[in-house]
Amino acid sequence: MMLTEIDHVAIAVSDLEAAIDYYQQAFGATVAHREMVESDGVEEALLKVADSYIQLTRATRDDSPIAKYIAKRGEGLHHVGYRVDDCAAALAAMVAAGATPIDQAPRPGSRGTTVAFIHPKGSFGTLIELVQE
Ligand code: CO
Repeated sequence: MMLTEIDHVAIAVSDLEAAIDYYQQAFGATVAHREMVESDGVEEALLKVADSYIQLTRATRDDSPIAKYIAKRGEGLHHVGYRVDDCAAALAAMVAAGATPIDQAPRPGSRGTTVAFIHPKGSFGTLIELVQE
């Protein structure tokens, strides 16, 4: 089995502070990590759940994938991040199994991770992120 853990569930939100407040009040969750990812045009807040995270994500500019997603579909579940030991090997295995990669090769993600995205088309409608810590 190549997947070692659910790394995070990413939720696209318009108002990051309001979303953090909601999760804090509803679950007593606290922000474990916060980061602006300039290359992706997003700001993330990670709330720890055991060894996984809820990742609340907002767009920081109009051409951000999160901005486009919210404009088209509204706020909500954006992608699932699966933790793997070797992102390149997992990406190659998925491509060999017929998946359509968005990233042709692993690239830097937030938290110092290495990531690669797989297109929802061909993955039963879910945007998949492979995450190597
Ligand atoms: Co992610």
